[in-house]
Amino acid sequence: MKKDLLKLLDLSKEDIIKILNTADQLKYNQKHGIVHDYLKGKTLAMIFEKNSTRTRVSFEAGMFQLGGHALFLSGKESQIGRGEPVEDTARVLDRYCDGIMIRTFAQEEVENLARYTTIPIINGLTDFCHPCQVLADLMTVREHKAILEGLKMCYIGDGNNMANSLIVGGLKCGMEVSVACPEGYDPDQRVLDFAKSDPSYKFSLVRTPQEAAVGADVVFTDVWASMGQEQEKAIREKAFAGYQINEELMALTNPECMVQHCLPAHRGEEITAEVFEAHANEIFDEAENRLHAQKAVMYLLMGGEKA
Ligand code: CP
Ligand code: NVA
Repeated sequence: MKKDLLKLLDLSKEDIIKILNTADQLKYNQKHGIVHDYLKGKTLAMIFEKNSTRTRVSFEAGMFQLGGHALFLSGKESQIGRGEPVEDTARVLDRYCDGIMIRTFAQEEVENLARYTTIPIINGLTDFCHPCQVLADLMTVREHKAILEGLKMCYIGDGNNMANSLIVGGLKCGMEVSVACPEGYDPDQRVLDFAKSDPSYKFSLVRTPQEAAVGADVVFTDVWASMGQEQEKAIREKAFAGYQINEELMALTNPECMVQHCLPAHRGEEITAEVFEAHANEIFDEAENRLHAQKAVMYLLMGGEKA
């Protein structure tokens, strides 16, 4: 494993499987009351320049369960909000803490933070990707379907951070990945290049949700307007009309097809209330697995292996 978790592009298939296996074990320990305080005495700084519910709570609770401590730094309230360079903040936190989780806008900011620190940097979402979420997603699909290899993953909607990480994570784990985005909202070019980089990868980018959904074993979607795009809401509502997981779309998928949503969800936009509720169990398993997958990441990156 590398020092940091900045994006799934940096991880090998073996790294991903190791994280998923560790997450399964930590989930087992948690459910059975087996003490797993491998990060005793360690501190994680959490920098948030965007809103969060799941990421903040799962990292903070996870760090506590591992015997360590997590502290919340709001971008607005810390000196970052007053313009202190991220590389200075990084070098200070490096001396106080044992790891940094950051949620921000530019991927470059996270990459820069990693260059200036000796402690692990964990990407808690950028405009480019959401690696912790997709590790939890892969964990959830594997939990429900027993395997990942050979399954068909379908993603409907914006070619955003979630789409980018799902494509990379799904392909690396041997899944077939089919994405439906409206023109002008494609996934990042670096991700499309990655999808083309290996002839064994089964990837397609299509324009209709129906084409992407045929024969899917798991269907993903995400909001039409991500954090930071609030002013594009009206324009996006037009562009994404029809890019919705609904009962007609589910009829095209394989029997027992799962539905996953990173949350928060907008019922009536990217997913109907009916499909959301019919698959709520899988969706909230996915939310729960943020905790276990991130505990695995922290355990592996912050010295737990040596504990
Ligand atoms: N899925 C996710 O990252 O949720 P939060 O924005 O609540 O952290
Ligand atoms: N694409 C969404 C994901 C939220 C977890 C966003 O960036 O707002």
